[in-house]
Amino acid sequence: MFMKTTLAATTAALTIMGTASFAGPQAEVLHYWTSGGEAKSVAVLQKEFADNGGTWTDMPVAGGGGDAAMTALRARVLSGNAPTAVQLKGPAIQEWYEEGVLADISSVAEANGWADVLPANIASHMKCEGTWCAAPVNVHRVDWIWASADILKANGIALPTTWDEFNAAADKLQAAGITPLAHGGQSWQDATVFEAVALGIGGADFYKKAFVELDDATLTSDTMVAVFDQMRKMRGYVDPNFSGRDWNLATAMVMNGEAAFQIMGDWAKGEFMAAGKVPGEDFLCISTPGDGFLYNVDSFAMFDVDGADKKAGQDLLAKLVVGKTFQKTFNLNKGSIPARTDVDLADFDSCAHLSASDMAASNDNGSLLPSYAHGMALRGAQSGAITDVVTAHFNSDMSSADAVAMLSKAIKNSM
Ligand code: BGC
Repeated sequence: MFMKTTLAATTAALTIMGTASFAGPQAEVLHYWTSGGEAKSVAVLQKEFADNGGTWTDMPVAGGGGDAAMTALRARVLSGNAPTAVQLKGPAIQEWYEEGVLADISSVAEANGWADVLPANIASHMKCEGTWCAAPVNVHRVDWIWASADILKANGIALPTTWDEFNAAADKLQAAGITPLAHGGQSWQDATVFEAVALGIGGADFYKKAFVELDDATLTSDTMVAVFDQMRKMRGYVDPNFSGRDWNLATAMVMNGEAAFQIMGDWAKGEFMAAGKVPGEDFLCISTPGDGFLYNVDSFAMFDVDGADKKAGQDLLAKLVVGKTFQKTFNLNKGSIPARTDVDLADFDSCAHLSASDMAASNDNGSLLPSYAHGMALRGAQSGAITDVVTAHFNSDMSSADAVAMLSKAIKNSM
């Protein structure tokens, strides 16, 4: 009798302890969404996670484009203390998978029918040897021009549809004492402008051969020389204080009427919207001159961690970010469009509609291309090699011919 009671009591105590040690779904999330628009977007996710019983530990690492965040991630993984979830994208997902540190989220993907609601090319970025290893939240377009409606109107300038028109508009503005191009001299921002110029001047096949296939003949072609020539012009259109400026401060220059244009992905639109600006009235959007669409899909990868609460957190987070409600609310704030194909875009603005229709058209004609500057096309060593050359050229008087020769050499050395 005594034994029985004790055993029952022990079992009960263990059960209680077991329950107590499961603190509910937990997620420590490493991300680099720290600007005004980005912070509003990530708050949507934090709220949804909490509403569903999760506890979120925030690990924001400031720095546009995520370079600093990736350095922080490497340090955490090397010290054997990976975060539960990380804002990670493109081939970097597969690179981490190959290091054996990613969790398999296939059961969540299958239970929620991701294969039925995600376009095939987006889904392919989220897979590692057939298993699901990341969850997509959006599609950002990179090749955009954001313009100050007031400045264009006051100077009788229309949105440029060719690079010649862009240069003519910029020359006119400069002559009137207005900074044509708001830019932040950080290498990833230089690369952002460069890939838009390359797509516009070279076209989709050129872009693909150069930045997806790393074809040497294309990297050293006359067309690439022309791309660097245009980059030299762009350098002439920025203000003297461009060096090191954060991208959102460049967006603020357009917002405040201190510069006419910014070439940046549509996270810049998130910034305008967070400041209450209205597309078509306060600011204008148009794709950079030329055909094609450079996509940049943000996603979360889950790292291998111990503990039922953390694993439950990963499952919950993965389920929520691909969920229909989240994809709508998050992307309304972030400036991007949903990764899912079944989200109603009625509440989205005109720039988002343009993005969605251009993306569909580019998908049909083979000009839907991964952004190299935002880590969608190449592994880190190769994209880094290209960006180093782009930045070295932008910040010196290097000739286009020398830049092209350096590009070819840098790629060979990176292999
Ligand atoms: C990311 C965006 C982010 C932007 C600025 C891009 O590479 O995909 O989500 O807003 O960088 O940090």
